[in-house]
Amino acid sequence: MAVKIYVTKNYDELSKVAANILAAKVVLKPDCVLGLATGSTPIGTYKNLIKKYEDGDLDFSKVTTVNLDEYRGLERTHDQSYYYFMHDNLFDHVNLRKDASFLPDGSKPDAAKECEAYEEKVASLGYADIQLLGIGRNGHIGFNEPCDEFIQKTHCVDLTESTIEANKRFFASANDVPKQAYTMGIGTIMNAKSILILASGKDKAEAVKNSFFGPVTPQVPASILQFHQDVTLVVDEEAYSLCK
Ligand code: GLP
Repeated sequence: MAVKIYVTKNYDELSKVAANILAAKVVLKPDCVLGLATGSTPIGTYKNLIKKYEDGDLDFSKVTTVNLDEYRGLERTHDQSYYYFMHDNLFDHVNLRKDASFLPDGSKPDAAKECEAYEEKVASLGYADIQLLGIGRNGHIGFNEPCDEFIQKTHCVDLTESTIEANKRFFASANDVPKQAYTMGIGTIMNAKSILILASGKDKAEAVKNSFFGPVTPQVPASILQFHQDVTLVVDEEAYSLCK
């Protein structure tokens, strides 16, 4: 298997390693396209990137960013939109140009049109130089949920019960979690020149094992990464505990 695996002691170390890998890309290619992700896992990585910027070690002025996904039906001002999350956790704290960050727009009701426009945008940028990914408890990446086929391009998905359950902690109740999302497709993600996937905690152990040590199947969307040429998995001991 071509996947490079770094096992870290804990979440803090994972966040430092991940930030160093992303920072190295920005140093080597100042006008790179960073593919970014939301969820709780990358928050520590973003904190470390902000610190590097504040210390004068990292310059985002030529960087472009694309994000994996967005809830359908949330305005960008909603504090649970991924647009809001990215501004809150990274964009507002570094010197990225205001017009250099792209996410699908969940407030656009015409799903087919918005997804096509987003796919074209990412393609026109040449896809991500490095795509950061978290992983869902069911092995989802972006919002590509387990299903019978790998869907190639940006599309609208119905979120599974397990994802709604997992994400309800950020909303007043499970009923308030949007039921759909716009997400990069598996092809959009696989077109990234390199992939950095993070997993932390016992909750992710099953997903890590199935994704990297099981068969490649759309029932475990992250398993497709076994076919990518340049994947780095940074995983803490708990998330790696079933792989020994
Ligand atoms: C969401 C996001 C994914 C993310 C996953 C795991 O569903 N769409 O991109 O990887 O949650 O999130 P967390 O890191 O909070 O466990």
